[in-house]
Amino acid sequence: MQKITTVSEMRKLADTLRAQGKTIGLVPTMGALHDGHLSLVQQAKTEANVVIVSVFVNPTQFGPNEDFSKYPRDIDSDTALAAEAGADFVFAPSVEEMYPKNYSTYVNEEVVARPLEGASRPSHFRGVTTVVAKLFNITRPDVAVFGQKDAQQAAVIIKMAEDLNFPVRIIVAPTLREEGGLAMSSRNRYLTGAQRAEALALHEALNFAKNMVEKGEHRSDRLVAEMTHILGQHRRVRVIYVALVDHRTMEPMREVEPGRSMLVVAAWVDEVRLIDNITL
Ligand code: PAJ
Repeated sequence: MQKITTVSEMRKLADTLRAQGKTIGLVPTMGALHDGHLSLVQQAKTEANVVIVSVFVNPTQFGPNEDFSKYPRDIDSDTALAAEAGADFVFAPSVEEMYPKNYSTYVNEEVVARPLEGASRPSHFRGVTTVVAKLFNITRPDVAVFGQKDAQQAAVIIKMAEDLNFPVRIIVAPTLREEGGLAMSSRNRYLTGAQRAEALALHEALNFAKNMVEKGEHRSDRLVAEMTHILGQHRRVRVIYVALVDHRTMEPMREVEPGRSMLVVAAWVDEVRLIDNITL
C-alpha cells in the first residue's frame, strides 16, 4: 500500500497505470473510515484493476459554523483500513496541495444541488463538486464509487459528471447500517450513548413510512406527517427536513412512484447533524 500526498505524484501514477492498460477505481472519502466506506472500496475492487482511496477533509464543503476543525482525522488508521479492504493506493493531500494560495475556481451544479442539503447548507455542494472534479482530474478514474447514504451528493455528482463530460462511470453503493439500523457515518463518533439511541429514530421513521407504502399509502403528505410525528417523539431530535423526492433530480413528489421515489430525512440529534434516506 502506497500513500501519495502530492497532486503531481498522483497524476504521474494515474498516467502510468493507464499506460499499463489498468483500469482505475476511485473512492473519495474524508477519512475516519468505517465499514460503510470500506464496502465502497470492496465494490470498487470488483469494478477496476486498481483502487485509489482519497482521504481529504475538504474545507470548501464545510460552512463557517460547521465541524471542519473538529472532524475526526487519523490517516495512519485510515491507510491500514483501506489496505485491508483491498485498496492499492491512498491519496491524502494537504489543504495547501489541493487549494494553493490564490485558488479561485469552483464547480457548481445548480439544480439537483439546490433543495434539501443545498438549502440547509449553502455552498456545501459547491465544495463537494469542486473537490470531486479535482479528484477526477488528478486520479483519472474509470469508475468512482459513492454511497447511497448521501443520496443527494451522489445525484449531484452524477449530474456534474454528465454535464462536464467526465469519462467516468459513477456507481452508487447501498448504505451500510449499524445493528439497530443507524446509518454508519464518521459523525456517529460524536454521539454519546443516549444520543445514539435517539439517532435510531431516523431509520425507524423511514422504515415505518416504507411499510406504509407497502400497505398502499402513496401520498407524500401522509408519509411525511407520520415520519415527522415519530421523530417528534424523541426529545433530542430536531427535524431539519423530511421529504418524498425523485432520487435522481431531488424534486419533491406528491405521490410515491416505485423505483423513482425516495424518502429523505435530515435532523439534529442535539448538536450532531445526521441524514438518512430509503428508496421506495
Ligand atoms: P465521506 O462522508 O467520508 O463519505 C465518503 C463516501 O462514503 C461517500 O460516497 C458516502 O456516501 C459514503 N458513505 C458514507 N457512509 C456510508 C454508509 N453508511 N454506507 C455506504 N456508504 C457510505 O461524502 C464525503 O465524504 C465527501 O463529501 C466527499 C465525496 C469525499 C467529497 O469531499
